[in-house]
Amino acid sequence: MAKQRQWRQNARMAPASTLRRRFHILTLLLSLSLPLGCAAERDHSWTIDARRYAVAADHPDASAAGAEILAMGGNAVDAAVATSFALAVVRPESCGLGGGGFMLIHRKGMAPVGLDYREQAPAGIRRDLYRDANGNPDPMRIQRGGLSVGVPGTVRGLLHALEAYGSGRVTRAQIIAPAIRLANRALVVDAHLAESIESFREAAEKDPAIARRFRELRQALIDSDGRARTRVDRSSMAITLEAIADRGADGFCDGEIARNIVRAVRNDGGVMTREDLAAYRVREVTPLRGSYLGHDVIGMPPPSSGGAVILETLNILHALDDDRIRAAYDWDYIGNNRSSAPPGLSRYAVNLSDPESMWGLYAHLLIESMKPAFADRATLLGDASPNVAADVAGMLDPARAKRIAEGIDERHAAPWTRYDKGSLAAIDGGTSHLSVIDADGMAVACTESVNLLFGSRILAPDTGVILNDTMDDFALDTTTPNAFGLRQSERNIVRAGARPLSSMSPTIVLKDGDVRLVVGASGGPRIITSTLQTLLHVVVGDRRVNDAVAEPRLHQQWLPDIVYVQPTMRDGVRAKLTQRGHTLKERKDIGHVQAIERLADGSLRAACDPMKGGRPAGK
Ligand code: GLY
Repeated sequence: MAKQRQWRQNARMAPASTLRRRFHILTLLLSLSLPLGCAAERDHSWTIDARRYAVAADHPDASAAGAEILAMGGNAVDAAVATSFALAVVRPESCGLGGGGFMLIHRKGMAPVGLDYREQAPAGIRRDLYRDANGNPDPMRIQRGGLSVGVPGTVRGLLHALEAYGSGRVTRAQIIAPAIRLANRALVVDAHLAESIESFREAAEKDPAIARRFRELRQALIDSDGRARTRVDRSSMAITLEAIADRGADGFCDGEIARNIVRAVRNDGGVMTREDLAAYRVREVTPLRGSYLGHDVIGMPPPSSGGAVILETLNILHALDDDRIRAAYDWDYIGNNRSSAPPGLSRYAVNLSDPESMWGLYAHLLIESMKPAFADRATLLGDASPNVAADVAGMLDPARAKRIAEGIDERHAAPWTRYDKGSLAAIDGGTSHLSVIDADGMAVACTESVNLLFGSRILAPDTGVILNDTMDDFALDTTTPNAFGLRQSERNIVRAGARPLSSMSPTIVLKDGDVRLVVGASGGPRIITSTLQTLLHVVVGDRRVNDAVAEPRLHQQWLPDIVYVQPTMRDGVRAKLTQRGHTLKERKDIGHVQAIERLADGSLRAACDPMKGGRPAGK
């Protein structure tokens, strides 16, 4: 161990990532033909250090809303709720009152709690509603429009969190006030929203039926000349937020706003009723717990698949041997002297006389550990499982992790068929994650979604509320591909009253009972892999969270049998993954992570994924 520590210490003296970053900056400067020294400053606004509290959300105004509430004496839950209401205004493409989510809460002296306010299938849903005139499944009916809308849970979820776990020192009206202020001024379109609007604009331009059908959304996002707006009017959302501030959940689930929402959904062929809205209940759930390298890892249970997949992967990594994983990590990310193998690898390395062969071993072992966990996600999890608790216990059984680890070959990628049980995993996009730590060490990890960008595309008139299309997180049947050409098992089949399987993975990591890391992401199934990789950078590599968030990521979800890598993934890793038999494909972004780390001296470091444009706030 002493030798191992020394190797890591030496390696840290000139971290490879620093050299790589310098190289990237140099390349950028050269490509822009700028004189060195003129633009050497990097934009660090996506990470901050704080002594007392911090909020990391994927929009600067949302982080600021949470920090404002903390400055008033609110706790982490008060701040998370304020942040989420603000996100409902400024990230309409990703989340909002028409969607749902999960919130994980840690407070010292209290068992961790999970809140499930995931959307739910309306009581009137039947599978045959998703069939066309010839009786064939019609995926378009579950992806967009009225039948794609699940009963939204966000408003009830946030208000439940506030009542049960808020500090009581800040009123509901004070917590919603920053969001109302944001809604009363035009929303300046940032890069992420612009890209999202552009994809809708292109779809509407190509197919005038889309423009007609979703005209409320079209008018909100696109001007009369067909140009994407650079400012979006969110003032009707202010009215909805005021109703919630005044009347609580009734302000949303009852009265004029509920009527407008239900009418908009039913006018587009949906079946949701006001009774569905009134009957919706938040579920308090016991989080899943596991441990890895001396840390407690807390995740959401089903209908999230994230907690189970992350914990199963960590169990397999542990079964592969902690020293081996640490050493392989150091080789790829930290070491600057690669002429000799780090001690932890000496028992395992492919070919010690050829240190180059160790490149990519960490990525390979990670991919091979994620593969079976994602296969389990696809085949075991879903609201229709006869015994979800037993399924999850099976996934997390250490003996099973050991058997899987024993079958992993460090030279070769396993074929996907090794884990084949006959069904495939889902993929999707319109989600937002926020992390909060307050001055008392209370922590919240919260992920919310409307599923695809702008959800169902139904904007309920006069409410500012965009309804989700989370029904597409269900499987229509086991053979019909979903929006992305993928299939899932019978256990996640669309069914009245059920909640669809989710990839949302709010995660809290504790060390000796205190919060060490709050992390989560947006990005469909890439939520799981990007959350996991950030956690591993901190726990295995002892890296700071800003480095962890900025490292290039990979994604493998069992099927399709492809490893997606970000373009900045180092060449050595790519080459060696290909050599081991993985099929690689570049993808611009792999999840958008928002995370906060508590350092040994009790101070905080927060980081928002530079790819989505968030900025943390804190003090
Ligand atoms: N709608 C994204 C997810 O829950 O996985």
